[in-house]
Amino acid sequence: MRVLTIIPTFNEIESLPLTLGRLREAVPASDVLIVDDNSPDGTGGLADEAAAADPQVFVLHRTGKVGLGAAYIAGFRWGLERGYDVLVEMDADGSHRPEQLQSLLDAVDGADLVIGSRWVPGGSVVNWPAHRKLLSRAGSTYSRLMLGLSVRDITAGFRAFRRGTLEKLDLSAVDSVGYGFQVDMTFRVARLGLRIAEVPITFVERELGASKMSGNIVLEAIVNVTRWGLAARWRKLTRRDG
Ligand code: GDD
Ligand code: MN
Repeated sequence: MRVLTIIPTFNEIESLPLTLGRLREAVPASDVLIVDDNSPDGTGGLADEAAAADPQVFVLHRTGKVGLGAAYIAGFRWGLERGYDVLVEMDADGSHRPEQLQSLLDAVDGADLVIGSRWVPGGSVVNWPAHRKLLSRAGSTYSRLMLGLSVRDITAGFRAFRRGTLEKLDLSAVDSVGYGFQVDMTFRVARLGLRIAEVPITFVERELGASKMSGNIVLEAIVNVTRWGLAARWRKLTRRDG
């Protein structure tokens, strides 16, 4: 099983070396692709140095900050073209503990998508303020009800996809820019009737650098989830009538 862990970065010069070091130690078999959006702080140059020193580390440079979704889509394409069997999403800031990646990989034998989940028994979040916890739980609950999904942590960003799952999706149709991308992918996988498994993780809020979460990102997610939910209901209704 060839595994590629994709790490999107925007201004992660302090966090990336630590996360990369931990990942290479925790799961040495996994290759790593850093997808950098031309970070002004020089993260891309640092990633190049890491790649020069380690044949299992690669870098994809993009010209500017176009969002998490676009970075992951580019990373998926890169990995699919090179024949990887499992493609992992992981943040650069240490929130997704590399030491827990193996438990996602263990579960991917029996699932098409494995989600590292904060909101299943055994999962947790460390060092998040109450408002951020509320936002995440409310976002997951709203998305779950609106889209009719049973996944507990729909916006989670620590995931493992089997290559066949990504091949069945139309990646060029995924146009979510921000973190709503995660909801978008979950909904697409579920609609194909594929198997989604959640394994508990401990999400540890970053200690270095800053989150890129913004009001626009939240708004995009709410608008899109509402749109997708209404469209799905409409499709159901018109099918029944016709
Ligand atoms: N290339 C690229 N381009 N990387 C980006 C961009 C972008 O536009 N925006 C964010 N990133 C990278 C960051 O550098 C980091 O490695 C990762 O994406 C997550 O960004 P954070 O800003 O640390 O996200 P967060 O901690 O607020 O949010 C986390 O939780 C969300 C759900 O609650 C992430 O795991 C999200 O994916 C998740 O939806
Ligand atoms: Mn983070």
